[in-house]
Amino acid sequence: MRNHLLSAAQLTSAQTIAILDTSAEMAKVNEREIKKLPTLRGKTVVNLFFEDSTRTRISFELAAKRLSADVISFSAKGSSVSKGESLKDTTQTLEAMGADAVVIRHWASGAAQTLANSGWIDCGIVNAGDGTHEHPTQALLDAYTLRTRIHGAGALGRDLAGVKVLIVGDILHSRVARSNLILLRTLGAEVHVVAPPTLMPMHAVEWAAQVHFNFDDAIRDVQPDAVMMLRVQGERMNASYFPSEREYSKIWGLTSERFASLPEKCLVMHPGPMNRGLEISSVAADSPQSTVLEQVANGVSVRMAVLFTVLSNDLNLKPMEDAE
Ligand code: NCD
Repeated sequence: MRNHLLSAAQLTSAQTIAILDTSAEMAKVNEREIKKLPTLRGKTVVNLFFEDSTRTRISFELAAKRLSADVISFSAKGSSVSKGESLKDTTQTLEAMGADAVVIRHWASGAAQTLANSGWIDCGIVNAGDGTHEHPTQALLDAYTLRTRIHGAGALGRDLAGVKVLIVGDILHSRVARSNLILLRTLGAEVHVVAPPTLMPMHAVEWAAQVHFNFDDAIRDVQPDAVMMLRVQGERMNASYFPSEREYSKIWGLTSERFASLPEKCLVMHPGPMNRGLEISSVAADSPQSTVLEQVANGVSVRMAVLFTVLSNDLNLKPMEDAE
């Protein structure tokens, strides 16, 4: 059976740690003069992007190339999708050209799973973000970044037990938050959430260690090891979720004053793209505590590990039906 990575919920703690350990090996390759392994020579990886992306798309492309796979990057804009071609026909066309793995980003929640369950194609499928649902490789790279910053690059085999993470902002529309809530918990971290009530979904209330509605109180009470700021996802908002951007920034943003109130070693994370001046100030984003660019760099190593895992059937990932 093909391995697919569709949801963070498919991963046990041991499997997650195995992927993080493989990522650490890949990171060593990425530090070398010749950043290439022959591992996926002869395999073809298709990046299928129906939604805009900078970081995720480029890092999957680079990850596949660094493992010597052939890579096709396909974006729906400018393809036959704009002529009305269906997901089924699009993917079957790509498989006919010899794809072994499909990395898919789609605006519809559940698209990656639909593809995996459809029987349309016989490829390993990696979810690179489906609507507001999940983004498992982002959660893996965030966990890798946390582990490396807190326990050091050589910390193989370790989880995140006792690490306190405060996820902040537009949780409702964030697939990053959803996957992180699942994966960080699997790794033993204590996950807190803080958001305006209009942007706090039920799953966060159920899954978080504690729910907060006041950012300053949450910082004071939790004393987090990391704050994970989320982009305000204007493109997914069909109503008014807060009165004005100025007010959002004042109450929910990591302003320079709020940044100064964080514990001394508290990390500042953001998956990008950032709305500087809205959810995060430049003082916070460009500080030594910020991991924003490290997250991007780690994304390549983590996606190398994921492509290797999926294509080599190295870990027996839980099928989705058993994951939820
Ligand atoms: C995120 C995404 O696309 O879900 N970005 C990313 O993958 N680095 C977060 C976002 O768009 O806000």
